[in-house]
Amino acid sequence: MEILPTFMISILAVILVSLLPSPTTALSPTHEAFLHCLSVHSPPSTNLSQLLYFPNTTSYSSIYLSTIYNLRFASTTSNSALTPLFIVSPNQDIHVQATVICTRNLDLHLRVRSGGHDYEGLSYRSYDHRPFVMLDLAKFQSVTVDVEHGTALVEVGATLGKLYYKIAEKSSVHGFPAGICPSIGAGGHISGGGMGNLVRKYGLAADNVLDAKLVDVNGKVLDRKSMGEDLFWAIRGGGGASFGVILSWKVRLVPVTPKVAVFTIHKGLGDGALDLLDKWQHISSKLHEDVYMEAAIRQPMYNGTNGMEALFNFQFMGGCEELLGIMEESFPELGVEAKDCKEMSWIQSVMYYAGYRNGEPFETLLNRSVVSGVYLKGKSDFVEEPIARDAWKGIWDEIMGVSGRSLLMYMAPYGGKMDEIPESETPFPHRKGNLYNIQYLVAWGNDSAEESDESLRVIRRLYKHMRPYVSKNPRAAYLNFRDLDMGINKNAISYSGAQVWGKHYFKINFKRLALVKGQVDSENFFRNEQSIPPLYRSE
Ligand SMILES: Cc1cc2nc3c(=O)[nH]c(=O)nc-3n(C[C@H](O)[C@H](O)[C@H](O)COP(=O)(O)OP(=O)(O)OC[C@H]3O[C@@H](n4cnc5c(N)ncnc54)[C@H](O)[C@@H]3O)c2cc1C
Ligand SMILES: *[C@@H]1O[C@H](CO)[C@@H](O)[C@H](O)[C@H]1NC(C)=O
Ligand SMILES: *[C@@H]1O[C@H](CO)[C@@H](O)[C@H](O)[C@H]1NC(C)=O
Ligand SMILES: *[C@@H]1O[C@H](CO)[C@@H](O)[C@H](O)[C@H]1NC(C)=O
Ligand SMILES: *[C@@H]1O[C@H](CO)[C@@H](O)[C@H](O)[C@H]1NC(C)=O
Ligand SMILES: *[C@@H]1O[C@H](CO)[C@@H](O)[C@H](O)[C@H]1NC(C)=O
Repeated sequence: MEILPTFMISILAVILVSLLPSPTTALSPTHEAFLHCLSVHSPPSTNLSQLLYFPNTTSYSSIYLSTIYNLRFASTTSNSALTPLFIVSPNQDIHVQATVICTRNLDLHLRVRSGGHDYEGLSYRSYDHRPFVMLDLAKFQSVTVDVEHGTALVEVGATLGKLYYKIAEKSSVHGFPAGICPSIGAGGHISGGGMGNLVRKYGLAADNVLDAKLVDVNGKVLDRKSMGEDLFWAIRGGGGASFGVILSWKVRLVPVTPKVAVFTIHKGLGDGALDLLDKWQHISSKLHEDVYMEAAIRQPMYNGTNGMEALFNFQFMGGCEELLGIMEESFPELGVEAKDCKEMSWIQSVMYYAGYRNGEPFETLLNRSVVSGVYLKGKSDFVEEPIARDAWKGIWDEIMGVSGRSLLMYMAPYGGKMDEIPESETPFPHRKGNLYNIQYLVAWGNDSAEESDESLRVIRRLYKHMRPYVSKNPRAAYLNFRDLDMGINKNAISYSGAQVWGKHYFKINFKRLALVKGQVDSENFFRNEQSIPPLYRSE
């Protein structure tokens, strides 16, 4: 959209600003200047009081809290230095452009939020105590599915649940390979990679992006053609936050079978859980790519230490009979029986995996009210060699020994399509040679310092315990399971400083990301504690 002639906007701006309800307390000069700038760069129809939210108002808090998944960061009062100076919640491209321009003009920082699921809250909190504007893109949530061409246009604030729902509404033989939790936002998820049950068959969400719309550091709207292949490469796995504000993705839908088989098997120590885990890691990445067999070791929250179990979660592109045949041949020890297996449509399997197993309506996937009720910390690893059978008991005990909180480990098998995609095809480097990804999570029930310190201690201890068994030099990690323990950018963001954390996420792709950053945002406007630093060709 073209920006209006400046003289016109200035006149309108004066009118609009005077229409705003007068706030109870006088605005600070920064607030006034930002408001003025926004009105100058917005079309005349803009109602600024529906766009811009100041602290200490109920709308500010409700918007701020609306998509925060991790309760650890859900306070607007306990540490005001870390929360936004103001929130912009637009529904038009031009307001996003205006926000970038004005934030930059006033020398403020910017945080961009789509679905609010960042593990460390970087889309809405700042740990470096610099005043920032939060751009909340929750209103950018349309999803348009084009079955004929096998594509979908997904705005960044749409949840994965909405994307899945909209696809299923139009077709029973199309799907999309992305994450499992339906409330995740398309903005952060796809720009960070995006991994789910179809990863072995179709790769990551980012591997299935055809085009993107992005607002750059100058407030210009770019598409794949105008941004160029380097920037288009960077935002498919390198994280959006370092490069611009992504507004939408055009994605390729993938074929799914009309019937999908699922089942979940629970095993305790007495059922041979450790042998099964051992066997699992030898076969899960080698099976036909239609079989996705996730494993987990977990202790259900607040259920004492007896609730400890290994969990095997299956999804198969086909019917039960065929899946049972595959299991009988490659994993008879698991003892799967016909009664364990259920056949359903792909969209029903999405609900099954999301934990909706009691006939909830599909519309549940559209429900944005996030009531997680947990305080979380996550970490990740990649495994290249099977962990020795003897080591599993130690891992089990490490998790089993924890009480009063839920510590768990999810293991997602790779192989299949992931082996076929070269390491540098996208910034996400964890391809061939990885057997599986591990996600560690600890969840606890209140924000007392004792609870949180102890929870962080147990997950860090488990991570330390795992060191001998996982990838090394670097110990690889997945950006979307963001972990500030990896390291953070210090005040002067340098390439070598950032390599400390960057190599874990991006391995050999880190340098190219930094070079792209140097080209598209040389002044490092788009930054956070783990943003890519600019590197210039001459360095
Ligand atoms: C309960 C839970 C389950 C999860 N399950 C999975 C899973 O199955 N598979 C998986 O791969 N991951 C999973 N994740 C991780 C998830 O993919 C990431 O947290 C993802 O980044 C969230 O995207 P978001 O838009 O919701 O987050 P946000 O917090 O909004 O953003 C995350 C990051 O992306 C940046 N960003 C967001 N939107 C934009 C934009 N429009 N333009 C530029 N930058 C932007 C933010 O600034 C921030 O740095 C899970 C997370 C949670 C909390
Ligand atoms: C602008 O939005 C506010 C809040 O929704 C509303 O109260 C007000 O009437 C609107 N003003 C105009 C001019 O539409
Ligand atoms: C918000 O309220 C708190 C506590 O009442 C106060 O300290 C702070 O200055 C207020 N912030 C603004 C921007 O008005
Ligand atoms: C708690 O553990 C018991 C015993 O293992 C089990 O039967 C029960 O289902 C568990 N409850 C939850 C909520 O997981
Ligand atoms: C959405 O989910 C919340 C929390 O689980 C629930 O209270 C609410 O009723 C749901 N809304 C709809 C429309 O299903
Ligand atoms: C937090 O949870 C722990 C464990 O359940 C409990 O012992 C403690 O009293 C709780 N603290 C607060 C402040 O609620």
